[in-house]
Amino acid sequence: MKERIERIKEEFQRSIASANTAEEIEALRIKYLGRKGEIAGITRSLPTLPKKEIPAMGRALNVLKNDIQGALEGKKKHLGKAGKRKEKIDITLEGVKRDLGSIHPITKTLDRINEIFMFLGFKIVRGPEIETEFNNFEALNIPLEHPSRDAFDTFYLEGDVLLRSHTSTVQIRIMKKQKPPVQAIMPGRVYRPDAVDASHSFMFHQVEGLMVDEGIKFSDLKGVLNIFAKQMFGENVRLRFRPSFFPFTEPSAEVDLSCIICNGKGCRVCSNTGWLEILGAGMVNPLVFKKVGYNPKKYTGFAFGMGVERIAMLKYGISDIRLFYENDLRFLKQF
Ligand code: DAH
Repeated sequence: MKERIERIKEEFQRSIASANTAEEIEALRIKYLGRKGEIAGITRSLPTLPKKEIPAMGRALNVLKNDIQGALEGKKKHLGKAGKRKEKIDITLEGVKRDLGSIHPITKTLDRINEIFMFLGFKIVRGPEIETEFNNFEALNIPLEHPSRDAFDTFYLEGDVLLRSHTSTVQIRIMKKQKPPVQAIMPGRVYRPDAVDASHSFMFHQVEGLMVDEGIKFSDLKGVLNIFAKQMFGENVRLRFRPSFFPFTEPSAEVDLSCIICNGKGCRVCSNTGWLEILGAGMVNPLVFKKVGYNPKKYTGFAFGMGVERIAMLKYGISDIRLFYENDLRFLKQF
């Protein structure tokens, strides 16, 4: 019996050395340790031995059984690890694809506007979208009876708190907080209860500008806006300043860009005028300076406010403002 045990041991060692798959290992386990396997076979024939040899043979069989079990498990683990390593470098497997997003056209336009004004020395300042009536109207010299104060033009929240209807509020916040000189742009969202159509939205973006110091002139405003227009739309564009009215600037102007489609000749986009309105601007009204505690005899300044959607629509040739907010990937993927 001793020889038989020895033989099984050698045979097992040879087999396990050449076993390379989980299936082969399982087959060996059945062959040696299974209910009808080699070990079970000899164990069943133990009682045929002389009585005093039985305990020693029993122990020897146990040792063999444990060795086989250990060797099988060891090999299985080893193969498992090797198997995983192989998987990691299997370059034939298709990888997990992740779609790369792109920058929203409004963000892209805002980034470019910010960049141009930062280059001109403007700081970027942000203010809250929930504002007071004072910052949105009173301090900007918009009197109670002015039509834009009507509840239909502004989302009122509670009491004198509202959703700002323009970014001009941030001008007031800056001037209340800091003495001149001031040179800042103020980007952000604004809200108006307008019916939504191809050119109106209840929420849109503006960039406000403000520069205050001793001796600031209308020509400084023109210079800054001309550089902006050329940087944004190209060297060939021209600006036109049309007299206008805003309560917070005096004098005020509406600023038109020579049509970027027809270069000022007149086309469908510019309604045959050759011009596209892009922003409002002017010299800060001395009444506004008084409200924020600036001395209007000492300081002058200019301000402007532009609609970001309008600029983006012109820049990218987009004809419907709603496209910006619908989250349609066919549109967004183009930027
Ligand atoms: N706040 C104005 C609007 O929303 C735009 C504007 C016009 C801003 C003239 C200004 C300005 O700072 O000087 O329609």
